[in-house]
Amino acid sequence: MGKALNSALSKEYDITSVGSKDLNVRNENEVRKIIKSNEPDIVINTVAFLGIDPCEKDPIKAFEMNMMHPMRLAEISNEFGFLLVHFSTDAVFSDIKSDESYDEYSMPNPVNVYGMTKLGGDMMVQEISKKFYLTRISVLFGDNDKNNQFVEKMLYRINSGASEINIADDIIGTPCYSKDVALSIKNLIESDLEYGLYHVVNDGKGSLYDLMSEISDHMETLPVIVNRASHKDFSAIGKKNTNTPLKSSKLKPMRHWKDAVKEYCKSL
Ligand SMILES: NC(=O)c1ccc[n+]([C@@H]2O[C@H](COP(=O)([O-])OP(=O)(O)OC[C@H]3O[C@@H](n4cnc5c(N)ncnc54)[C@H](OP(=O)(O)O)[C@@H]3O)[C@@H](O)[C@H]2O)c1
Repeated sequence: MGKALNSALSKEYDITSVGSKDLNVRNENEVRKIIKSNEPDIVINTVAFLGIDPCEKDPIKAFEMNMMHPMRLAEISNEFGFLLVHFSTDAVFSDIKSDESYDEYSMPNPVNVYGMTKLGGDMMVQEISKKFYLTRISVLFGDNDKNNQFVEKMLYRINSGASEINIADDIIGTPCYSKDVALSIKNLIESDLEYGLYHVVNDGKGSLYDLMSEISDHMETLPVIVNRASHKDFSAIGKKNTNTPLKSSKLKPMRHWKDAVKEYCKSL
């Protein structure tokens, strides 16, 4: 997400991007020092400890990075007066029982340590910060140097020679193109919309299988068969979120995720 935000904002904003090489957000002093020396007008926090199983295995790290760090950023934002943009996730919800999608007014109910700690971060930002946009997204895809996201991991496997991939058809979210999300964040910070929670997602919903199938349909040269599987076929420690699509009742809808996939595939 950080990379897409850099691309969307760097022409018009003077940006200082920091990652794990520059500071450890588990250390408040390091966060304070970087903010003090840059005097930002806006801080966008895309740092998180991601993944269901990593968080189950190390809940203290999840708590510190997903809850304590946003809490401190919220406190520091009041002290220094900057606008805080903090990213959150569909994993704050449990599985929706209807055909509907979760909007900003839906009641969170996390089912794993990742979701619980991210919800903790959301609550801290909402309770403490005076100037904030709390922005929830769902399954992310887009230009990425690290191949650490679901789609990019799969593309990496295909490029490394995998001829078939098995993808869960029973994990449903709202695929989000990082480029579209970043442009929407730019619009949000330049708007006079009231501070608060926004779901910043492409339109529609789909399973992980739908997403990879759509990508493979657009990439005729991609020599891979995408097989329908169940999340139960992949061993896991934590309870998985299986049906957590998002929509916004506060922002204009973005283009459908399938149209965004088309553009992404062209760029690949
Ligand atoms: N990815 C998804 O599918 C998804 C879905 C829903 C919500 N979200 C939310 O969206 C946000 C962005 O996710 P993402 O996928 O862009 O995450 P990501 O690719 O894992 O990026 C996380 C960033 O945090 C930095 N970081 C990690 N540990 C750090 C530490 N201890 N100190 C300082 N920086 C540290 C990383 O820096 P380095 O690059 O230098 O390591 C990286 O820039 C998160 O809040 C996440 O919960 C993501």
